[in-house]
Amino acid sequence: MAPDRAGLPRALTQRRAGLDRAPLRKTEAGPNHGGGGSTMSWYRNVVWFVKGLREYTRSGYESASKHFDPADLEVDVAGRSFLITGSNSGIGKAAAKEIARRGGTVHLVCRNKERAEDAKGEIVTETGNQLQSDNLGRGNIFLHIVDISNPKEIWKFAEKFKTEHKLNVLINNAGCMVNNRELTENGLEKNFATNTLGTYVLTTALLPLLEKEADARVITVSSGGMLVQKLNISDLQSGSGTFDGTMVYAQNKRQQVVLTEQWAKTHRSIHFSVMHPGWADTPAVRSSMPDFYQKMKNSLRTEAQGADTVVWLAVSSEAAKLPSGLFFQDRQPVPTHLPLARTHSPPGDEEKLMEMLEELSQKFKSISPGSPQCC
Ligand SMILES: NC(=O)c1ccc[n+]([C@@H]2O[C@H](COP(=O)([O-])OP(=O)(O)OC[C@H]3O[C@@H](n4cnc5c(N)ncnc54)[C@H](OP(=O)(O)O)[C@@H]3O)[C@@H](O)[C@H]2O)c1
Repeated sequence: MAPDRAGLPRALTQRRAGLDRAPLRKTEAGPNHGGGGSTMSWYRNVVWFVKGLREYTRSGYESASKHFDPADLEVDVAGRSFLITGSNSGIGKAAAKEIARRGGTVHLVCRNKERAEDAKGEIVTETGNQLQSDNLGRGNIFLHIVDISNPKEIWKFAEKFKTEHKLNVLINNAGCMVNNRELTENGLEKNFATNTLGTYVLTTALLPLLEKEADARVITVSSGGMLVQKLNISDLQSGSGTFDGTMVYAQNKRQQVVLTEQWAKTHRSIHFSVMHPGWADTPAVRSSMPDFYQKMKNSLRTEAQGADTVVWLAVSSEAAKLPSGLFFQDRQPVPTHLPLARTHSPPGDEEKLMEMLEELSQKFKSISPGSPQCC
């Protein structure tokens, strides 16, 4: 058993909703069981869910926010450039608005043109950020249509982006939980393609651009649900055993934490962070988890509350003072493992994950005619 899209262990939320009488161990049969036997998994999930009810809800946010310093976000980021994936909706759109309000140049990276244009219009209207630079040099809002589950498209997009724009902050927010094993047009399992490989390719492709800037940052929106998963590199695309999208999603979110830690070690000039937004009332939660939503709707965070730590990590000088590579919740670094949950990886697995992603990502990189083969 593992968390669902809002970061909830599905069996537990279904039980709360009286929907599922199956034993808690039922979903442990899948390939991404995250290590440990059923008793250990039960322990992880119960400890995690109790923690979630206390910390991930709106009341958890309200309690944590008493310690926030409002001055942290009283910044003008005019002249700085932010790229946010999945920014037509939910947490990504809320973060885009906050950054646009502070004058930043915002690159919205979305897969659906119509939804993206609607969101861009809303962001411009609500924030007053200009479509074109005004004579104070205040920011622009740009739109790019890219499917983050398609590594070929990402490489191509990044190559063009690098020739036209600068980038100070990359926010990997796009994410999905697909419940059946579906393949993309490139033959990749969709959750892995979007959450893990897409994050890897976009970040890797844009690192050279980020490295040119002072105070460059990469923020990845993971999920607290990853706490019940141990890194599993044996079957990255869940090709064997029973497929459980909930567990695959949580495993992908664990992989995002590992990516962040590894990048922080190898790219010292960039500040990396990964975070959990809490349980936020987003379109995804409403549409893909209607029963959970009905039970929990009065306890969920707003989209803006879910986006608060993303914005803080992206714009505040306080965030950049903390070490690179940490996992955040409500503006605080928090542990990446539950106590006694045995989710630590065996030595070498984290590096091996990076090697596997690098090898796979290169298969989708086509060099356009005339461009250099290497640097
Ligand atoms: N809400 C929560 O409680 C919660 C908890 C933990 C973690 N998270 C994480 O927060 C992030 C944002 O989710 P959300 O809750 O705000 O849900 P959301 O409103 O559905 O936002 C997800 C965004 O990702 C985009 N997206 C998905 N697949 C994509 C692809 N292949 N290419 C480009 N864009 C893609 C979606 O685009 P479309 O509109 O076109 O689908 C949408 O803009 C996700 O990474 C999610 O895992 C959310």
